[in-house]
Amino acid sequence: MTHQLSSSVLKLVHILNDCHSHPGTEIARELGLSRTAVWKIIQRLKSFGAPIQSHPKGYILHEYLSLLDKQKICHKTQNKNYTLDVFESLDSTNDYLKNKENNANCPHFCLAEHQSHGRGRMERSWISPFGRNLYLSLSYTFSKDISELSGLSLVMGVILAKCLESFNPFPNPKLSLSLKWPNDIYLCSEKMGGILIEITAEAHGNCRTIIGIGLNINMKDASIKDIDQPWTSLEHHLAHTVDRNIVAARVIDATLEGLECFSQNGMNAFRNDWQKYDMLHNKTILLKTSRGHISGMARGINELGHLLIELPSGVIQSFSSGDTSVMKT
Ligand code: BTN
Repeated sequence: MTHQLSSSVLKLVHILNDCHSHPGTEIARELGLSRTAVWKIIQRLKSFGAPIQSHPKGYILHEYLSLLDKQKICHKTQNKNYTLDVFESLDSTNDYLKNKENNANCPHFCLAEHQSHGRGRMERSWISPFGRNLYLSLSYTFSKDISELSGLSLVMGVILAKCLESFNPFPNPKLSLSLKWPNDIYLCSEKMGGILIEITAEAHGNCRTIIGIGLNINMKDASIKDIDQPWTSLEHHLAHTVDRNIVAARVIDATLEGLECFSQNGMNAFRNDWQKYDMLHNKTILLKTSRGHISGMARGINELGHLLIELPSGVIQSFSSGDTSVMKT
């Protein structure tokens, strides 16, 4: 069963956020619920991995959690022309939106505090611990043919990189943001986020896209061992816990503005910015595709957002999909 993030859960975590022990009776009184109802909520949050411990005298939260709050997010966005759902846990925010009708064609965002089956590109899983990061999906309909959306994943990378730069201290050149084709977000050479876009062609030349965004915000757990590549989080570089509601609101505003620009002007409006963030440019890279592996020198992107690689023969070839890595020289 999926639960929207309720005010009871927010109040409960607010009480526990001092990281001291609180008796069940006290929490029940403050929430206006029975002790059993409180116990049930706590069991549920624990099943999602929330660091709450039950002991004979009550409950303790071991780490401060800045939870998402739908009201705060909606209050903070300048653009009000969207729908937002915020859940405690989903299998995947992308799958939730994919299975939902969107007849109104109004941008529909969905956030979850935890994903049990978060998905990444190339059939990978996306590790999604409770209450720390941003797992955000958007259902967005374009009045465009599918062939005109080829640069969308790069465009989303640029939108997010620019948005994240609005958080200090990114202007510090030592803490640089970059993008790895096609759409990995890197902070200081470590992966901080990724984008998973799924497109379905619809009637009347429309295309419905589900744009999934995973951003590591407050993740610092050394015990997260399942991630198979170096990763980092916003908190790690800012050295304080980040209010994820502010991040969510800025991402929503930036995405709506950016996609409107993409709808009107296409990929070209974002090409210069892409080049600014391109971490592969002029590096020797390996591209893994379903057809095999190619190595060569990365030479930027073409007008469709395809990756240009200079092969050892000197020929420059374009590639529309695959997984890239910088080769050690
Ligand atoms: C990648 O780098 O492989 C893409 C990761 C995308 C993860 C996000 S989290 C929100 C949305 N829901 C999912 O299941 N995946 C995307």
